Amino acid sequence: MLATDSGKARIERPGEPPPDLAGRAGIVPDLMGSERDPGPPRVLSGIQPSGDFHLGNYIGAVRHWVADQDRNDCFYLIVDLHAITLPQNPQELRARTVELATILLAAGIDPERSTLFVQSHVHEHAELAWVLQCVATLGELRRMTQFKEKTAKGQESSSSAGLFTYPVLQAADILLYRTDKVPVGEDQRQHVELTRDIAQRFNRRFGDTFVLPEATVPPVGAKIMDLQNPGAKMSKSSESPQGTIAILDPPEDLARKVRTAVTDSGREVIAREDKPAITNLLTIHSIISGQPVDALEERYAGSGYAQFKSDLADELVAFLEPFQRRYHDLRDDPGEIARLLGIGAEKARAVASEMLALAYDRVGLLPMGKA
Ligand code: AMP
Ligand code: TRP
Repeated sequence: MLATDSGKARIERPGEPPPDLAGRAGIVPDLMGSERDPGPPRVLSGIQPSGDFHLGNYIGAVRHWVADQDRNDCFYLIVDLHAITLPQNPQELRARTVELATILLAAGIDPERSTLFVQSHVHEHAELAWVLQCVATLGELRRMTQFKEKTAKGQESSSSAGLFTYPVLQAADILLYRTDKVPVGEDQRQHVELTRDIAQRFNRRFGDTFVLPEATVPPVGAKIMDLQNPGAKMSKSSESPQGTIAILDPPEDLARKVRTAVTDSGREVIAREDKPAITNLLTIHSIISGQPVDALEERYAGSGYAQFKSDLADELVAFLEPFQRRYHDLRDDPGEIARLLGIGAEKARAVASEMLALAYDRVGLLPMGKA
């Protein structure tokens, strides 16, 4: 057994030769490359500190992150280096980073069980990203749908180069931690596939090093739509703030947004393809109240939209109330947030520095102090 920085031991496989390190005269001979830890699966995900955190982010992502903590070894990052691929106001970026950390803690990410940190606090991310940029190809980055969408209006030549290499930084985030599972929305599946391709190419070229991760995408139905435009996803960059439920909205705004949500023709409270607006509201109600959609349909049969929306408004306010209370309590103690993020960064770095050293070694970078 080999001890690791995280105090865990890795699987020993007698009779199997160690990964192809010796022949490469590496200087990190203790490290076992892509060997997995025998502990619980490692889960890693990231979220950008840009825009207002909304109900869709909670339902589609963070709710699952919280649940994953019970069964997995979880790493959650606030990806500020990704945020600067688009122009940001520096003061606002700092404030949003703290705000997002506070939201994640208030939502139930537990720093005792998970490793919660800010990406830029662990410099290994930017460093491994550079190495991986030398493994990724222009061709594969050009195929990334998100890049094509973000530069759709013919702005490619004025976009930052960082926007183009964004998925490689994401690959570094994932590969630094020997991640098994990456919970993300459907739109991020392609980036996780790219991460696998880069890791495989690196492993072939330099010897077994990185664990190949898998995307875990929550089942459909968990995509929350804009309350004013149920054809579009609820989004941080939405043009209709009235259609986006921000998690920190005061109760009167929450209630107003639900009551003024657009509805479909007819008055039946029923989830059906030709009724996207009421289907979306039923999904939200079901998730926050824990009642199945068909039970809600039955309960509101014949009562019309107004009663349903009024009840949903109450449910939503009651659902967010304890969360908002925790948020404000935590917000009153910024020193504590900074302390918790410091602990997270240290835990992360213990793992990341080991992996970066291995990757540097594999590609033949000379360590300082050796000649
Ligand atoms: P974003 O707001 O695009 O940075 O996404 C952060 C996380 O929230 C990702 O995992 C998304 O898949 C998830 N997410 C964003 N918007 C929604 C939505 N409207 N419904 C469900 N999940 C969402
Ligand atoms: N690109 C992701 C998004 O926009 C955020 C992200 C950055 C991420 N690094 C990650 C997600 C690593 C999962 C794993 O949603």
